[in-house]
Amino acid sequence: MTDTNPYQNDRGNKDMSITNPRPGSTADPVRPGGKAKVAEAADAFLIGEAMTGGYGSGADILHSCTIAVNPGEIAVIVGPNGAGKSTAMKAVFGMLNLREGRVVLDGEDISALTPQARVGKGMGFVPQTSNIFTSMTVEENLEMGAFIRRDDIRATMEQIYDLFPILRDKRKQAAGELSGGQRQQVAVGRALMTQPKVLMLDEPTAGVSPIVMDELFDRIIEVSRTGIPILMVEQNARQALEIADKGYVLVQGRNAYSGTGKELLADPEVRKSFLGG
Ligand SMILES: Nc1ncnc2c1ncn2[C@@H]1O[C@H](COP(=O)(O)OP(=O)(O)OP(=O)(O)O)[C@@H](O)[C@H]1O
Ligand SMILES: [Mg+2]
Repeated sequence: MTDTNPYQNDRGNKDMSITNPRPGSTADPVRPGGKAKVAEAADAFLIGEAMTGGYGSGADILHSCTIAVNPGEIAVIVGPNGAGKSTAMKAVFGMLNLREGRVVLDGEDISALTPQARVGKGMGFVPQTSNIFTSMTVEENLEMGAFIRRDDIRATMEQIYDLFPILRDKRKQAAGELSGGQRQQVAVGRALMTQPKVLMLDEPTAGVSPIVMDELFDRIIEVSRTGIPILMVEQNARQALEIADKGYVLVQGRNAYSGTGKELLADPEVRKSFLGG
């Protein structure tokens, strides 16, 4: 591991919203049951706030878990296997019945909406598994991504091909024939086809080589620079925190640590327990 930030040190050190809730805000940034150290601006663009719940009638997996992201930011969720990272993403996307807490997008409480309705509100979600149609071509996958749109999608498709040029070359090929990194590009591209207001990615670099991981991160930064907030789960914790404006460490469905990417990378406890020293 190297200490040099390959992304020109322009991320991971700007966001003060965690430590400095917006002045003048009268809203209590922490709901009852939430921990003070996950104090969030209650008016974050997307916030899953004090979420508690599990699958069906099973035990709670999330315990007052809070994750949030603002425009122009990359927020990263890390933590051990089984910590509830994917469950937290699914809760924000509406695939879980929350017993407590709420999800707010652009000032609107969307807790009662179906996942499809949330897509209509501007959420783009790339799940951890089964995130492409393998028997369809690359182009058909992108078309499927645009299912809610009634306008001309060609310009968006061109933007995605500009972002991921390999997909233009392989547009007539079955997505199942692509490499792992290329498939992840299809999955991200599919989510971008709705022109989302916020992009949620669950382990976008799963199973790819370090070089491909770097390339994917570069593309994700590029998307973020267009202003789209990005909420991302990553198992490559150290590398992800290097590009993160803010990070959350989840443990057993709870917020264990949160801060800017820089703060978490520098925290001795976080380093020892989650970053391999
Ligand atoms: N569909 C499901 N039904 C019931 N329990 C589930 C379901 N999916 C996950 N769980 C349970 O929820 C807990 C958290 O799982 P989750 O997939 O959210 O963890 P994760 O942090 O994303 O892990 P990983 O790093 O392995 O992806 C685990 O105990 C898991 O067994
Ligand atoms: Mg997961």
